[in-house]
Amino acid sequence: CAKEDEGSSTSSDGSKAITLGFSQVGSESGWRSANTDSVKSAAKEAGYNLKFSDAQQKQENQISAIRSYIAQKVDVIAFSPVVVTGWDAVLKEAKAAKIPVVLTDRSVETSDESLYVTLVGSDFTEEGRRAGKILEKVLAKAGVKGPVKIAQLEGTTGAAPAIERAKGFKEVMDADHKDDWKIVVSQTGDFTRAGGKQVMAAFLTSNPDINVLFAHNDDMAIGAIQSIEAAGKKPGKDILIVSIDGVKDGFVAMSEGKINAIVECNPLLGPQLMDVVKKVKNGETVERWIKTKEGDFMQDQAKAALPSRKY
Ligand code: AHR
Repeated sequence: CAKEDEGSSTSSDGSKAITLGFSQVGSESGWRSANTDSVKSAAKEAGYNLKFSDAQQKQENQISAIRSYIAQKVDVIAFSPVVVTGWDAVLKEAKAAKIPVVLTDRSVETSDESLYVTLVGSDFTEEGRRAGKILEKVLAKAGVKGPVKIAQLEGTTGAAPAIERAKGFKEVMDADHKDDWKIVVSQTGDFTRAGGKQVMAAFLTSNPDINVLFAHNDDMAIGAIQSIEAAGKKPGKDILIVSIDGVKDGFVAMSEGKINAIVECNPLLGPQLMDVVKKVKNGETVERWIKTKEGDFMQDQAKAALPSRKY
């Protein structure tokens, strides 16, 4: 079952605090831990009463957490949906109870756009495109001209970042690299280190001639690096690696020459989320999608950037 933390019911000045019910995906990656810390500290800073629950990457746990927030009559519900589909019923229950819903980090597919107010999070399709464009630079730098045989480690099946990062990357391939790039294997590693390690080991057995890895997050890339080294190959040289997130451990691997480039996905969404929650609670109009600013990093920038990484 899901883990739940309860907050306090009044703000520091004694006035009635906003009660926010937040359902988190889980704790699958370094990105997720940073995101959880950001949400908890921003809620504290804003003086909100935060009811936080960790769904351990299970949709049914998120649905029961949302139902419990509806029953508790929270002011606003926010959640980061583990997968894109299957939310309409519970979102209709929130709407019937007149509790506004804010999506954070990941989006949903819904037949009724009025079921949530806004999404605070990244453009994952654009991240996939950025990964494709940065791979061009990585290949040029490494002097690889021949056939590019790509292994793709996908995020959680059915999750917005897995679907959209794959889509954006494929767009770049289809537009500019139809003849020279090929995804030879692609499978989910569930955004975890263990998943990345295990799936990469299988990839190396079935396709020993892979020369590029595109990992949908740093944690899977870090797991994959262990399998690449165990197979007697050099990550970052024999197999060029591009990943997404930009967590500290990703930057450490990049500064050691094991990851070639990272597309940043910012997990520090807490302050923006609290701001939006207040506006929504006060009935103000907010943008439909509030995006975050992010950068791209090549290996030669890693050492300089590492000390200032916050997560
Ligand atoms: O939804 C964001 C993704 O989820 C991050 O890229 C990944 O690390 C996390 O698990």
